[in-house]
Amino acid sequence: MNLPAFKLERFFAKYEFNTEFLLCSSDCEAMSIADLLEFEPDAAQKFQQVWLGYTESQGSPALQREISKLYETIQPEDILVHTGAEEAIFIFMNSMFQNGDHVIVHLPGYQSLAEVARGAGCDVSPWLAREENNWALDLDELRHLARSNTKAIVINTPHNPTGYLMSRADYEAVHNFAQEKNLLLFSDEVYRESEYDAAERLPAACDLGEHAISLGVTSKTYGLAGLRIGWIATKNKKIYDNMASLKDYTTICNSAPSEFLAEVGMRNRQKLVQRNLDIIKHNLMVIDNLFAHHTNLFSWVRPKAGSMGFPRLLKGNIEDFCDDLVLKAGVLLLPGSMYDDSHNHFRLGLGRKNLPQAVERLEDYLSKNK
Ligand SMILES: Cc1ncc(COP(=O)(O)O)c(C=O)c1O
Repeated sequence: MNLPAFKLERFFAKYEFNTEFLLCSSDCEAMSIADLLEFEPDAAQKFQQVWLGYTESQGSPALQREISKLYETIQPEDILVHTGAEEAIFIFMNSMFQNGDHVIVHLPGYQSLAEVARGAGCDVSPWLAREENNWALDLDELRHLARSNTKAIVINTPHNPTGYLMSRADYEAVHNFAQEKNLLLFSDEVYRESEYDAAERLPAACDLGEHAISLGVTSKTYGLAGLRIGWIATKNKKIYDNMASLKDYTTICNSAPSEFLAEVGMRNRQKLVQRNLDIIKHNLMVIDNLFAHHTNLFSWVRPKAGSMGFPRLLKGNIEDFCDDLVLKAGVLLLPGSMYDDSHNHFRLGLGRKNLPQAVERLEDYLSKNK
C-alpha cells in the first residue's frame, strides 16, 4: 500500500516539541496520570496492580462498557477498541474497501479520511465544505456525487478544522440517503461532546442503524491523547468482525495501562468535558477580542463545537505568515495548505490553557510587523 506523506503530521514533527506556543493544536489540554487517578479514591492503587500481559483484542470488557455509555443503543460488545482513532480509520478502510470502490469524503478534513481510502484503491470524491456556506455541506452535491459503485460516505462532525457542527436536519438527510442507497456511513465523531451548546449535539451515527459506524477517541474532547485509545461503535456485525480480523495484523490488542487509564477517564468524562469546555469558551473570548482588533487582517466563521477554527488571513500569504510568526515569536499556526486549502485559511487551536499568552505574543508580533 502506497500512502503519500501525512502533511499535517510532518509539519508537527518539525515544530510540536520545540515551539513555545502551539496555537493550532486539535486536542484539548492534557493532564498527568496522577491528576487523572485523583478522580477516583482507589484508582492509583488499582493502577499499580494492572497486569502487563496481553489484553483482550477487542478492548477490555470494563473499557468497552464505559465507552458504550456514550451511546443510546450500543452494547459493550459493539465497541472495538483501537490504538487511537487513527488506527481505527486505517483498519476500517482496509477491511471494508476494495480496489475500484467509490467513496465520498467530507473535505477539507483530516487527511487519513481520504488518503487511506485512496490507498485502499478507492476513487475518492471530495464533498466540499465551503466557507461561503458557513462550512455547511450541500446535500444536492451529495446526491450528484453518488455513483453506482459508491460504497461509503465519510463525514466528520464536529469538524476538523472548521468547528462546524452539522444541523440535525442535514444529518438525518445524510443518514436517510445512505440507507436508501445502501451505503456505509463512516462518522468521525472524535470531537463529539464538545458542542458549545449541548442541545445541538447530534445523535451518534451508530445509534441510527446498521449502515453506520461511529469513530471515537480519548484524545480530543477528553484531552487524553497520550493514552492512544480510540474505538469504533457499530451494530453491523460484518464490519465489526472484518475490522477485528485485520487488527490482528496491526496492534493485536491495546496497551493495558492505557486501557485502565482510559476506563477511569471515560467513567469521569463529564468532568473532563466540563474542564475542557471551560478552557475553550474562555479562549474563544480571547480570540473574539483579537479578531475584533484586527478586522482588516482576519475573518472567520466562529466554530460551534470542538477545539478548532479555520480563520482566513486577509492580507499576504498564509504560509509566509506562519513561517515568520513561528520564527520570530515562537507561536505556531497551521497553514491551510496542510489541508490542500488554497484560500489563505489557517487552523487555530482553542483547547490549550496557554492560548491567552500565545495571543499576547501574536499581538506583539502584529504590532511590530504592521
Ligand atoms: C477528525 C479526526 N479524526 C481522527 C483523528 C485521529 O485521532 P488520534 O490522533 O487521537 O488517533 C484526528 C486527530 O487529529 C482528527 O482530527
